[in-house]
Amino acid sequence: MTGRAQPDAPIDLNDLDLFVSGDPHAVWSRLRRTAPVYWNPAPDGGFWALTRYEDVSAAYIDTVSFSSKYGTVLGGSYRNAADTASGQMLICSDPPDHRLLRQQVHKAFAPWMIEKATRRVVEFLGAALDRFVAAGGGDFATEVALELPAGFLSAMFDLGRDDAFRLLRLTRSMIGHKDAEYSGSSGADMTLVASQVEIFDMLTDLTERRRKEPGDDLVSLLCAAEINGRPMTDSQILYNCLNVAVGGNETTPYTATAAVLALAEHPDQAQRLIADPGLLSTAVEEIFRWTSTNAYVQRTATRDVEIRGTLIKAGQSVTLWNASANRDEDQFASPDVFDVSRAPNQHLAFGVAAHRCIGMGGARQEITLLMRALAERRLRFEVTGPVERLRSNFMLGIKHLPVAVSVG
Ligand code: HEM
Repeated sequence: MTGRAQPDAPIDLNDLDLFVSGDPHAVWSRLRRTAPVYWNPAPDGGFWALTRYEDVSAAYIDTVSFSSKYGTVLGGSYRNAADTASGQMLICSDPPDHRLLRQQVHKAFAPWMIEKATRRVVEFLGAALDRFVAAGGGDFATEVALELPAGFLSAMFDLGRDDAFRLLRLTRSMIGHKDAEYSGSSGADMTLVASQVEIFDMLTDLTERRRKEPGDDLVSLLCAAEINGRPMTDSQILYNCLNVAVGGNETTPYTATAAVLALAEHPDQAQRLIADPGLLSTAVEEIFRWTSTNAYVQRTATRDVEIRGTLIKAGQSVTLWNASANRDEDQFASPDVFDVSRAPNQHLAFGVAAHRCIGMGGARQEITLLMRALAERRLRFEVTGPVERLRSNFMLGIKHLPVAVSVG
């Protein structure tokens, strides 16, 4: 059979209202049950949506049938292989180019760098939590969560605090360009272009400075790197710095904010963590599963492929929904229960196989530092105002989380 199974009522995963004010988990649950290989029509041609754990992991692993080089974000800026980023930036390249690039970028994620970044995060986070607790609370998303990537990337790019926050503001408007809070009167497309141009200016300037005075940061390492005996090109250096900046800035703060919301909504789980620090590592993995900040990635079929009897044609866009796979009842016992002691927990929040998040160790460290600090300080949170979500189906982000904090 090569027909298209359809759910009982129309579903549009490109309807961003669903991610701002709706219940995407209910929609994914319907898709897993009624149309696990779902054709989502869209004005620019439509895309397939894979929502079951088994199908999502199989598509990640099959890099021959499912290519990254046409872009991994729906309607994104790298939707064609002629785009200059294709084949040059980790996230939109395929083996064997991908492996060669990854070997170089990976040098900046060595244990000594994670240690350096840890010291910076501890410093930034500690000061922000002191202020937050003294004030009795505030907006966790803007007053605390941003300190995690700011600390991490200030170490990785060797930037001062102001420059780290400038980079953060730019990646925020790049990824959040469809959200009026970040695009303002400029409109989504203009915001995307303007923020990318400004990030490239900033990174070009940094590259010139590091070429004159090398250090031990990511930019210096890439400037000194060689692929097949040749120095990395300027565009390879810029695109991969952009990839790390976006990957680092636009994930962990949303995960941290969603973690605090989960603790506020499940005070019994917060209490377990405070009472038993031994639960820290399972709690961190459960937060990644529960929040699934990077909701999906896109691939493009390179040849005709059949999944569950449905034909996916060469050239079609295929989306792999991590956020749905992470609640698949065939993979996880009671998937809609937030359980800080969950084990095993083979979630797909970081993807899997060749492109699995290169910053996974850093992300784990950031969220561990946060959760340890909250538990050691015995902090309790209560939501005091509207939870405002990012207008995006790519990043499941909370922009504002007003909370009261108490020690107990
Ligand atoms: C909660 C935190 C994070 C989540 C949920 C997350 C999620 C992901 C996912 C799902 C992928 C796979 C993309 C694909 O297969 O197309 C990925 C790749 C990537 N991530 Fe992360 N990420 C996180 C944190 C970070 C951090 C902290 C950094 C850098 C400091 C980072 C940098 C990257 C880069 C550069 C890639 C591309 C890797 C490649 O294509 O080989 N990420 N991330």
